[in-house]
Amino acid sequence: MASAVEKGKKVAAYRAVDENITAEHKVIGIGSGSTVVYAVERILQRKELQHIVYIPTSFQSRLLITEGGLTLGSIEQFPEIDVTIDGADEVDPQLNAIKGGGACQFQEMVVAKAAKKFVMIADYRKKSKSLGTEWVKGVPIEVVPLAYKVVMHALNNLLSVKPQFTKLRMAVQKAGPVVTDNGNFVIDAHFGPIADPHKLGQEIKLLTGVLEVGLFCRMAEIAYFGEEDGSVDIW
Ligand code: 5RP
Repeated sequence: MASAVEKGKKVAAYRAVDENITAEHKVIGIGSGSTVVYAVERILQRKELQHIVYIPTSFQSRLLITEGGLTLGSIEQFPEIDVTIDGADEVDPQLNAIKGGGACQFQEMVVAKAAKKFVMIADYRKKSKSLGTEWVKGVPIEVVPLAYKVVMHALNNLLSVKPQFTKLRMAVQKAGPVVTDNGNFVIDAHFGPIADPHKLGQEIKLLTGVLEVGLFCRMAEIAYFGEEDGSVDIW
């Protein structure tokens, strides 16, 4: 039997697809992660959405698109997207989010920024009063491998806020660093509650060696959260 969390992901994803993707759309961005799996499942159930071109944000989402038999497009071909739908690790009431739990934040950011509408989907655990309180694994930061130590050092000397920890993300059983779809490493930096996520994201982004920061601020128009009781909370 599916857990409350899985049910939450599914109801949020189905509702978001039903309310935001229509047969009139031409290009849709597909995020990454386990919640997005349900969004693609719902798209596949709706026959009128099969002609749309879908843009992936990772190797995982490219497989979801191709294995589902949907039309795969690239961001080079389609730099303007109607709607992008994606998961999140933590979302605050202003719809700022921490993303990158799956190390896909760079491509996710590109595809979200290219979209006229960015929609987030998540289960109830991802709702937060303040970023940095629920997702305590740290803000994911994609870095060029050569520069990871330099970036870690710089993170510990940020002007506005000091991280409680910075960690190079390791693969399962510490087999080596996680390598992103872009051939880079990920640093997870935990700051505790983040008073100004936009400012922090901008400050980190300026560090030499940083490709992208998993702080998605002022981007989402709407967020759907699947609740434990099977309802959907919409922010
Ligand atoms: C990947 C992401 C995911 O969208 C985020 O981690 C949420 O994943 P899930 O739906 O599995 O909880 O940002 O980089």
